[in-house]
Parts: sequence; C-alpha cells; structure tokens
Amino acid sequence: MRSSPDEFDDLNPSPGLLMGPGPVNADPRVLRAMSAPLLGQFDPQFRDYMRQTSGLYREVFQTRNPWTLLVDGTSRSGIEAALVSLIEPGDRVLVPVFGRFGHLKVEIARRCGAEVRGVEIEWGSVFDAERLEREVKAFRPMLVAVSHGDTSTTMAQPLDGLGAICRAHDALLYVDATATLGGMDLPVDRWHLDIVSAGLQKCLGGPSGIAPLTLNARAESRIVRRRHTEQGLRNADTMDGEGPVIRSNYFDLAGIMDYWSEKALNHHTEATTMLYGARECARILLKEGLAHAFARHDAASRAMVAGITAMGLKPFGDPRHKMANVTGVCIPEGVDGDKVRRALLEDFHIEIGTSFGPLHGRIWRIGAMGYNARRDAVLVTLGALEAVLAGEGVMLPRGAAVDAARAAYRSAN
Ligand SMILES: Cc1ncc(COP(=O)(O)O)c(C=O)c1O
Repeated sequence: MRSSPDEFDDLNPSPGLLMGPGPVNADPRVLRAMSAPLLGQFDPQFRDYMRQTSGLYREVFQTRNPWTLLVDGTSRSGIEAALVSLIEPGDRVLVPVFGRFGHLKVEIARRCGAEVRGVEIEWGSVFDAERLEREVKAFRPMLVAVSHGDTSTTMAQPLDGLGAICRAHDALLYVDATATLGGMDLPVDRWHLDIVSAGLQKCLGGPSGIAPLTLNARAESRIVRRRHTEQGLRNADTMDGEGPVIRSNYFDLAGIMDYWSEKALNHHTEATTMLYGARECARILLKEGLAHAFARHDAASRAMVAGITAMGLKPFGDPRHKMANVTGVCIPEGVDGDKVRRALLEDFHIEIGTSFGPLHGRIWRIGAMGYNARRDAVLVTLGALEAVLAGEGVMLPRGAAVDAARAAYRSAN
C-alpha cells in the first residue's frame, strides 16, 4: 500500500493529561528548548552545552562524580550501558527483584554473560537491609543491580545503607533511578551508589529518549581497564586497557566517556535535540530546588492517596514504601479496569496505567510526576475517575475524592 502526503493532516495530537506511570506531559519549556537550531556535536558552543549539562546533572544526582553524562536512548539504554560496561562474562550479579524492572535487570545481566542471582519478594513490598546483606554475603557478587522505584508495583526500595553493605563485601552497586530521579531524594555520593542511570520521561518532565548517568571512581576503574578504541579512531597515542573488550559498541561507556571528555573522541552522532531537552529538564528542576520538587511530588502523592481512599478505593502495596510519584490502586471487584481506563481516555483524555505480570488487571497506576505533579492535574484526574466509576455503577460518595485531596493539599502547605 502506498501513502500520499495529501492524505495526512498536520501532526496535531490532542492535548490531554498523561497520568500514567510515565511518560508524562513534558514541560512546555523543555519542548521549546528542543526546537532550538541544531549544532554540530564538536561545535565549541555545543561542547559547552555538554559541559553545562554534565554540571547540572551532577547537582540533580547530588554527586561530585566528574563522569556524569548522557547515554542516547531510552532509560534502558542507561541500564544496558552500565551493565554491559561493568559485567565481564562469568561475573556474579545479584538483582533484588520487587517488580518488572528487577526482572529486566536480570535479563540484561544474563545477556552480558553474568552468573545472575535474582532474589524475589512479593510485588507490593520491598527488601529489608538485613535480607540484602545476607544475600550479598552468601552470593559474593561483583555487582548488585537494583531499582530505586519500580513503577510496575509503585514501590521504592530504601537504598540508604545498601552502598555501605556492597563496599564491605567488595561489590559495586548499580541503581536504576529511571522512575525516581528528580521526584524522590537520591543522594548518590552520600548513599555510596557507584553507578546510577535514569530517564527524562518521569519526574524530570521531559520526553523519553536520553538517559542521564553518573559513575564514580570505583566504577570508572573497572570500565577503563576495558577501553578498546575503535580501529578507525586509533592513532599513535591510543592505549587500550588490559581487560576484556566491552561486548557492545554503542553502549560502551569507555567510548562514551572518551566522547564526553576533553578528548572529544568521536563515538555516536549526538542526539542534539535530546541533549537540549535534558539540559532544560535539569535547569528547570534545579531552579525550583530539589527539596521543593521532592515536596511537590510528596504532596501530590498524599493528595492522590487521600482522594482514592475517600472514594472507597484501596491503594496498593506497602504504604511505608510507596513511591512519591506513582500510586497503585486496587481495581474494585467486578469493575473492568481496562474499560475504566478507556472511558477516562475517551471522555476526559486522561491516561492512567494498568500493570504487568501478576498485577495486570489487578491495579491501576496513576502517576503525578514531573510537570504533572500539580494540584490541578491531581484534582482533575480524581474527579474524572470518580465520574467514570459512578457511570460503571460503583457506589461512591460523590465529591468526596476531590474534597479529600484538596484538604490534603491544604494540610501540606
Ligand atoms: C524503573 C524503570 N526502569 C526502566 C524502565 C524502562 O525505561 P524505558 O522504557 O525508557 O527504556 C522503566 C520504565 O517505566 C522504569 O520504570
């Protein structure tokens, strides 16, 4: 079948509220920054933007790591870059699995040739530090790879203390902060996290497509010993490391570091527009202030929970470990969860999420993060959900959800 351009209108997506587990609506300032003219990646002005972006993300990650950079690709490109650059075939990797994204790290680590132990707990809960220490002691991994927040279950794993456990047992610690960076506190240096990656499409309020990543000297030394410069870029000064070559070219952090360093060694063709967007996400967040942004996400979470509860619905999972930016909601008995999501989308143009695996069809996931962690977005979503549920014949106290959420907001101020 052939298409003619005359068949299609201008691209004109209807405005709506993305209140699922991510992506969320991008901040309009980020979209504006992304329409700036392209520059060549070795243009001095662009190299300056790269340096600025690195500096801004150092603040966002609360780190002094010189190696703070962007990996081009969605959040899993940051995960793959970290794991493939650290793991040598046969290395032991421990993955605490408390949701879908733990399984993802098991899968990636296996593809890197690691001997992987995935330890699982029931979805909706998190690991305590004693259990993690026992697992590290018993398995003696080279690397522990863990999610901070797992959007599939809406739980956040406490990480304070895990870095010290890993150091005591000579393991590196990788953290997938895709779903929490910018919305929940993640002091990379204070918590001794060796390598951390994220994405823009959640609490940072940007589109998906680039992965901020930071790594410290412990991770660096393991990566640079595997440096293997491409044949076409080598010159008389090129020195390879003595370690085994990293099994991916695109996600080779040694190469990406050479590209971000003052050497400016060619690697990929820069996704210039995404870098502009990432820079703007960080600039906006830091201008607001990290503490303020965390409090804004927390207030949205409390208001959402208050509204859900006032409607007679049950939040999912251990409330002590709920992520601040996503709320799991148990779908009431007899209600068709997908039908409710469809009605929200068709009548209100509000998107909320379902979940995966054992939670598919059992919970909805409602996000209020990044640009959408706002009072109006939370209240409108609750009001719409109430109307749709009432239309489905669910008996609920009309008006109670929005009232409870507004009261929660008042008490947060
Ligand atoms: C914790 C976590 N890790 C990884 C990902 C995968 O990110 P992406 O789809 O941007 O590659 C997600 C996406 O929701 C996530 O929540």
